[in-house]
Amino acid sequence: MMASRSVPRRRGRALAILTLVGVLLGACSGTVDDLGSLAVDSDALELGRAVYAANCATCHGERGEGQPNWQSRRPDGTLPAPPHDVSGHTWHHPDEVLIEIVTVGGQAAYGGSGIISGMPAFGEQLTAAEITAVLAHIRTLWGTAERSYQESLR
Ligand code: HEC
Repeated sequence: MMASRSVPRRRGRALAILTLVGVLLGACSGTVDDLGSLAVDSDALELGRAVYAANCATCHGERGEGQPNWQSRRPDGTLPAPPHDVSGHTWHHPDEVLIEIVTVGGQAAYGGSGIISGMPAFGEQLTAAEITAVLAHIRTLWGTAERSYQESLR
């Protein structure tokens, strides 16, 4: 019992340092636990790459480059698929939003009037683990600055 007394104190110091890092990243509403949840192992990344190639690359591009003129609506009101690399704005959204878009599709996620989204729902075809993995793969298409920014949104 005596020996374990110093552990909480050390943990407290580590938490304080992590909290400071979080504040420096601009994570006003973030917690230390949230930062920890970003970690994915190499198996999950491998899975994410495969899920992306099989389900997302046709529209969003092999390397996440998106479709041409992705910011201009087509005559039918839909937008072409946006890039997932640094030139897009996937990294402007927190994980919860990205997970929702992929799970329920653009139409349900954006909802609202006058929006016609070409982003399909994958909630029926992909497991939650596959969706997390594919988003982890998408994160690898960003630079350090974009990853830090996106982490600060949680
Ligand atoms: C049939 C084409 C198509 C496929 C396949 C597709 N998407 Fe999309 N996706 C879109 C379009 C179009 C949008 C833009 C939605 C809008 O604004 O209407 C979009 C938007 C998104 C967004 C939001 C990006 C942002 O910046 O707001 C995410 C995240 C996303 N897709 C992830 C995925 C993932 C992950 C897969 C594969 C599991 C996938 N998409 C497969 C067409 C597609």
